Amino acid sequence: MDFSFTEEQLMLQDVARRIAQEKIAPSAEHHDRTGEFPLENIRLLGENGLMGIEVPTEYGGAGMDPVAYVLAMVEVAAGDAAHSTIMSVNNSLFCNGILTHGSEAQKQKYVRAIAEGEAIGAFALTEPQSGSDATAMRCRAVKQADGTYVINGKKSWITSGPVARYIVLFAMSEPDKGARGITAFLIDTDNAGFGRGKTEPKLGIRASATCEIEFNDYVAQADDVLGQEGEGFKIAMGVLDAGRIGIASQAIGIARAAYEATLEYVKDRKAFGAAIGTFQMTQAKIADMKCKLDAALLLTLRAAWVKGEGKRFSNEAAIAKLTASEAAMWITHQAVQIHGGMGYSKEMPLERYFRDAKITEIYEGTSEIQRLVIARNETGLR
Ligand code: CAA
Repeated sequence: MDFSFTEEQLMLQDVARRIAQEKIAPSAEHHDRTGEFPLENIRLLGENGLMGIEVPTEYGGAGMDPVAYVLAMVEVAAGDAAHSTIMSVNNSLFCNGILTHGSEAQKQKYVRAIAEGEAIGAFALTEPQSGSDATAMRCRAVKQADGTYVINGKKSWITSGPVARYIVLFAMSEPDKGARGITAFLIDTDNAGFGRGKTEPKLGIRASATCEIEFNDYVAQADDVLGQEGEGFKIAMGVLDAGRIGIASQAIGIARAAYEATLEYVKDRKAFGAAIGTFQMTQAKIADMKCKLDAALLLTLRAAWVKGEGKRFSNEAAIAKLTASEAAMWITHQAVQIHGGMGYSKEMPLERYFRDAKITEIYEGTSEIQRLVIARNETGLR
């Protein structure tokens, strides 16, 4: 077993760290306070290959592997979680699915624009009444005699929805077939029949714009279908497996930023005549934070490695996301506690890390769904 990284992986990590520390972290407080979408920084990440890390260079990406993706995501998330949310959706949920299931023309048209940072992508599965139970979707795609589809319905909680040019959409094309009646479509938001609803006011990742989207007699052409008709649910699940590696990495980045700030603080802050880092209660928290952080990173790298080997990685991705997101929540909680009043104040980023961490236990499959996936894989029972 080799725990070292390749030169290329380290180079990409270095590029991500530089942008995160020089451009992203300094503006994170502003973006959190205003909710302003960080378009300039997203373009910069795209110009440096970070919006299509696993996208081959012929489609405008960096042509790197899933381990490089983890390393880069951690750095960006440590700079600001909201930026890493946009990065994760572009890389995993948008580009990954089209690379795996798309035609050559679809890859050229949709992947290139996102990988190069010229446009932003989104992924539309969730609806107002269906989140974890994704097959309960009501959005309908009705096939016409000429081979086109007429799409009607609503999708909610769409990350980057307010700014996305292209969207991977899942709609029910044959309702009586359940999961096997769902089809994936590639949507151009400039086309007639597409609309955006209200933007969600959120607890954290506030600069990653989220909204409802609506389809009113949107006409999709036959070559807008991603993969085959009826394959949509499997495409969504496969894409979410990859997405869960991205969210695990995001959780690690948030947790690492909170941990590093805490390490500094416990050496400086004095109480009862000594640095608080000399107190055993603080030391126990530091040790537990470090163990959870390393465990989360190693499990996430394992999932990325299995993906890179071309094997099924659903279980590894669920284990990584569950461990990393719960570690991020715990670590940011302890970081706020150790900082006391300063942890609760907006003068320091600890309270933001704490708010940002929470979403990692919810999106791309809640912790309950990860436990369900893991238990089903382990027991073979349904
Ligand atoms: N890869 C490939 N195929 C898969 C799969 C995977 N990971 N998981 C399931 N499938 C296949 C199954 O093999 C099955 O195929 P057959 O019909 O051929 O047997 C089919 O899909 C149906 O599978 P299940 O019967 O297991 O489906 P289910 O209804 O029991 O649901 C679930 C399983 C795990 C609960 C799933 O619905 C799930 O993961 N739900 C959570 C959805 C989710 O993560 N939503 C997040 C929204 S997106 C988001 O947050 C984006 C954002 O903006 C950041």
